[in-house]
Amino acid sequence: MFPVAGLGTRFLPATKAIPKELLPIVDRPLIQYAVDEAREAGIEQMIFVTGRGKTAIVEHFDTAFELETTMRERGKSLDILEPTRFPPGDIITVRQQVPLGLGHAIWCARAIVGDEPFAILLPDELMVGEPGCMKQMVAAYEEVGGNLISVLEVPREEVSSYGVIDPGEERGTLTEVRGLVEKPPINEAPSNKIVSGRYILQPEVMRTLEDQEKGAGGEIQLTDAMARMIGGQPFHAVTFAGRRFDCGSKTGFVEATLALALEREDMGEEVRAIAKRLLG
Ligand code: G1P
Repeated sequence: MFPVAGLGTRFLPATKAIPKELLPIVDRPLIQYAVDEAREAGIEQMIFVTGRGKTAIVEHFDTAFELETTMRERGKSLDILEPTRFPPGDIITVRQQVPLGLGHAIWCARAIVGDEPFAILLPDELMVGEPGCMKQMVAAYEEVGGNLISVLEVPREEVSSYGVIDPGEERGTLTEVRGLVEKPPINEAPSNKIVSGRYILQPEVMRTLEDQEKGAGGEIQLTDAMARMIGGQPFHAVTFAGRRFDCGSKTGFVEATLALALEREDMGEEVRAIAKRLLG
């Protein structure tokens, strides 16, 4: 599940008519990285929780008849479009009519989720690793089951922008989650391990969200609902082995663009030369 209903105000005016999830890192839209990560992990059905003005995201994963016909007629390869293709029925959308928070967005998809565990990926968080973050989590899930979130450590002064875990026992990359708090003041944060936008949750979270009261920022928070599930079901955090770019911020977005461009075989060298020149 990809919550993509956000207004993307931080990237205005770029996001006035274009969903922020379609802003490209080099030549792949942000949402494509998250969808590829989910597919790599063996996930087949993609649920988008959208809102007004987000239709282009669904178009991106549809057949583009005119484009494809024209490309074929011109003898061009369609391979580049392969990651945007899905079997009929595997792209599912539901609307969040009013932006009441991440928890509410997830709850909007309760009828689709039904009685199965499901994964959530926040496309703002670009996770680069081999294997990808969700694949690492699925491997951990096969071992411990229950509820799983990915975490990473940030400098203490940044914790107030995130969900933070109260860590228990550690075993390899797995940490037991004893508590969770959304956007705590620095001095009240139980650790500097933050929730980094990847979740594998049991369907019971939908029932917990049903009566979840508003939390940080006056929004219905997923973190608060998850916190209430601790104790009832196993709850672990996986420390992601890889790199993370916060593409919800402009500098994080630029960092991701530069980092991924530098690694590209088709342009890395050229970009490196340009960067050197710009830096003097
Ligand atoms: C959301 C979650 C938060 C998490 C963060 C990761 O916050 O509520 O727990 O740490 O994503 O990016 P948001 O960025 O929507 O404020």
